[in-house]
Amino acid sequence: MAKVTITVNGEARTVSVPPETTLLKLLREHLNLTGAKLGCDVGDCGACTVIVNGKSVNSCLMLASQVDGFDVLTIEGLATTDQLHPLQTAFEEKGSLQCGFCGPGVIMSAKALLDEEPDPSVERIRDALAGNLCRCTGYSKMIEAVQAVANSVNSHPSVKSA
Ligand code: FES
Ligand code: FES
Repeated sequence: MAKVTITVNGEARTVSVPPETTLLKLLREHLNLTGAKLGCDVGDCGACTVIVNGKSVNSCLMLASQVDGFDVLTIEGLATTDQLHPLQTAFEEKGSLQCGFCGPGVIMSAKALLDEEPDPSVERIRDALAGNLCRCTGYSKMIEAVQAVANSVNSHPSVKSA
């Protein structure tokens, strides 16, 4: 067994897992954080996207032991008890998701982009979401939602995306 300590959504957690355990499995099966989805399990769909030390990653491709000591943010860490994250609100308002399976991954990719680049071009948003496959909705409404958040943060800098 490998002992892994991570900070996940601001909380330090230590678990012992078999050495072959992926980060996705650690989150879903050991920490009960099921927002990141198991889609392809080979790095093709982005359904498992989370943010590790500020970068979006496919958690199905990382071993839990590789993130020992790291900071992990999942979709569960975005909303507060009484308020959705601005990206979640924008996706809802724009009707950017249908079945929603891809949603957590898409939103985490978008968050990683906006954290690094608060005013991205459409091309940059498209690039950032390129690894997230959506079978239902298409990408136009997702891009609109990300732009809406970027615009609101940039016109009201005090509204920081948490
Ligand atoms: S489940 Fe990880 S990329 Fe598809
Ligand atoms: S909303 Fe169904 S896969 Fe994207």
